[in-house]
Amino acid sequence: MRSSFGSKIGMVLASAGSAVGLGNIWRFPTEAGRNGGAAFILLYLACVLLLAMPVMIGEFVIGRASRANTVDSYRVLAPGKPWVVSGFIGVVAGFLVLSYYSVVAGWTLDYTVVSFSASLMKPMDYGGYFDSFVRNPWRPVLAMAAFMAATHFVVARGVEKGIERFSKILMPLLFCIILVLIVCSLSMPGAEKGLEFLFKPDFSKVNTQVVLSAMGQAFFTLSVGIGCLATYASYFSDDTPLVRVAFNVCLIDTLVAVSAGLIIFPAVFSVSGAQVDAGPGLVFITLPNVFNSAFGALPVLNYIFSSLFYLLLFVAALTSSISMHEISTAYITETFHLERRVAARIVTAICMVFGVVCSLSFGIWSGIHVFGMGFFDLFDYFVAKFCMPLGGILICTFVGWDLKHSTVRRQLGSRFTPLLMFLFRWVAPIGIGIVFVYELMDR
Ligand code: TRP
Repeated sequence: MRSSFGSKIGMVLASAGSAVGLGNIWRFPTEAGRNGGAAFILLYLACVLLLAMPVMIGEFVIGRASRANTVDSYRVLAPGKPWVVSGFIGVVAGFLVLSYYSVVAGWTLDYTVVSFSASLMKPMDYGGYFDSFVRNPWRPVLAMAAFMAATHFVVARGVEKGIERFSKILMPLLFCIILVLIVCSLSMPGAEKGLEFLFKPDFSKVNTQVVLSAMGQAFFTLSVGIGCLATYASYFSDDTPLVRVAFNVCLIDTLVAVSAGLIIFPAVFSVSGAQVDAGPGLVFITLPNVFNSAFGALPVLNYIFSSLFYLLLFVAALTSSISMHEISTAYITETFHLERRVAARIVTAICMVFGVVCSLSFGIWSGIHVFGMGFFDLFDYFVAKFCMPLGGILICTFVGWDLKHSTVRRQLGSRFTPLLMFLFRWVAPIGIGIVFVYELMDR
């Protein structure tokens, strides 16, 4: 018997756990900060509704209609047709995305430990600290390996006892930490400036680059395009309303992203001299600076704020990495008829090797370039700019044009079916296609 989720709430929390991750708390504020705040956020919302959510619903349909891993799902639904390529893209991208995601997740694990031990609490050159940390040949590699081991621990236990049970514990924990941090951040002096940046759009900053970033962000944050949510949906029960679940997952994901903005921007604006457009260093360099002086007179609050923040990042990353791991674990288990534990070990081992390569590309291997990029950037480029949009186009086209209409209708069971068909057939493939081509030409 194939495994499945035990409860509705567990299923929603697991899917939301996949979506909510570093993409929301690290990448979203970085992108919003760089691309002008509120205007970027509006574009991003449009991409979520028109492009990424249809792909998510398409993945749900494919996963539940086939009840198989992402490669076999196409073999079941369209035997002998070339759509299975989309499944293979998913499995390959699943390995790569987990490998480089674990590197950054490892940093969050290291920063969590360091901030709980209070050693981040003295004023210092955080930029220099971060630089020497990521260049160190051992520490980030060990942190990555520890994070990967945590992911393995959950996935090896199975869908219900591992993924679902841990999502039910970790997601509520995440929501609580977020609430505490928002209250802390909004109570800092000068917080209004951060709110203005987040909610008052300045359209003069919008250009093609901003549109491209908005779509990339929408896909990454919702985990769509590489069969991750299709794999989860293959464990959904038959009476699960797919459209409603997808809407809820998108809503939760967006709320968490905006909350991350509410935590970070008021804090950054409240401390003079801190830059919102600091790029990827925002969370690891700018924020420790902010945490240090945020509650000037009450250092214990600074300690709590920073420790909780990195714990939040770590927890969010873990519920996402298990969903990446599951793509390949499900595939290997079912294709080679292996025990789940064994399949999980294979995936973990391969990703650890790739993870070491990505981690070292910040340090001793920073001189090695392939297609003009280091390994970390190369993996990210290939997954986020190539596999995810291509996968998204294939998924929508398959569901819109090739899959039997009666199957789609039965899976969706929603009054929005005609609207969704229009999105699957025209809006999403053409919209994603335009962005995809622009991105490739941009190189
Ligand atoms: N959505 C997650 C985040 O925001 C990352 C993620 C999980 C993901 N599973 C994925 C991204 C599958 C791409 C594909 O951090």
